[in-house]
Amino acid sequence: MRFFCFLGKAGGFRGRGLQLFDFCRYLIDKREGPLLTAEEAYRKTGVPMYEHQKISAMTAGDEIRSVYLINQASLQQSRNGPYWRLEFKDASGVLEAKIWSPLSLSFPALAPGQMAEVGGRIAVYRDQLQLTVEGMRVLEEEEAALLPMENYLPSSERPAADMLADIEALCDEVFTHKPWKKFVRSVFSDKRLRPMLLRAPAAKSMHHAYAGGLLEHLLSVAGLCMRMADHYPDMDRQALLAGALLHDIGKLDELSGPLATEYTDEGRFLGHIAQGLIMLEPFLQKSGLEPELAMHFKHLVASHHGEREFGAVALPATPEAFALHFADNMDAKVNQCRNSVPAQEEGMAWSPYQNLLGRSLCRPLRTPEPAPSEEKRKGRAEKKNDKQEERQCSLL
Ligand SMILES: [Fe+2]
Ligand SMILES: [Fe+2]
Repeated sequence: MRFFCFLGKAGGFRGRGLQLFDFCRYLIDKREGPLLTAEEAYRKTGVPMYEHQKISAMTAGDEIRSVYLINQASLQQSRNGPYWRLEFKDASGVLEAKIWSPLSLSFPALAPGQMAEVGGRIAVYRDQLQLTVEGMRVLEEEEAALLPMENYLPSSERPAADMLADIEALCDEVFTHKPWKKFVRSVFSDKRLRPMLLRAPAAKSMHHAYAGGLLEHLLSVAGLCMRMADHYPDMDRQALLAGALLHDIGKLDELSGPLATEYTDEGRFLGHIAQGLIMLEPFLQKSGLEPELAMHFKHLVASHHGEREFGAVALPATPEAFALHFADNMDAKVNQCRNSVPAQEEGMAWSPYQNLLGRSLCRPLRTPEPAPSEEKRKGRAEKKNDKQEERQCSLL
């Protein structure tokens, strides 16, 4: 089912674009209750589901009606007037496109980073697929911010909504002190932050630089911290969990744009640690948390980078602050190792030189593990031996 219809004229998507916006807004307004799938929302709103047509699946002759990221845009001249030469992008690939005159005159300015609802037909030009645009509408930033980013950016392997549900379950399990629970849950259910969390990468490049990457990182750091708290039971498990789940929350305002891949002015001026502390203050105020606990929490956020040269506002001064710093660092480095070496390469493989780390990273040869059948055989053999031993014991 298509979400919008193509009207074949310049700007012809305008009326239907509002529906896309309303539909996404409906999904987000439901944030207090259980998350709805696009299909459930469709059943409730009657607005057809938005369907993304992957660039990698296109072939010559296909009719295209979908939303893409404008990756490149230049206005050129031909004998028939000015035309736009574009490159559209999604998570699966890039697509060359042209908007010929007179339709090109409807778009005085187009720029990389904009999202556009596009209609047209695919043809082959110089052995490459190319889209001739027959209608297009540039989405408002507010509309674009509501699109499922996994269509446009590489995304984390787990759906963001599942990871958010895991975070909420962890809060319910660990927070026995009501103000902690109230504080952390209020951040994760905030009307502005929740939709941003569902898509945010944890960084522009470096680690977890994909849609859902921030949630994946927060959940993973929280998991590591909870294991450390098991090992060191005298740690304040609840303060540590709050710190783990919220230490990078300032990244939501550090990166901007529909794909959250550009630093905001605020992000450049303050950085995500200061932004996080400012962002969380009103939630802390309303939580009823004891001032000493609130102060410890702020210390966890302020010191999680470990050293001043890496942006820490304070140096870790409590066991929980050390635990959070090491868990954060470990998760970032392991993720970076995994993602900088191409998965398809067999055996030992090295990444290109990583400037920020000052080294190349390696995926080493892995110690062979017994094949499942071998394990089963081993298990059966062990059982047989056990029985023989039992029999021998009973004979003695
Ligand atoms: Fe950080
Ligand atoms: Fe982090």
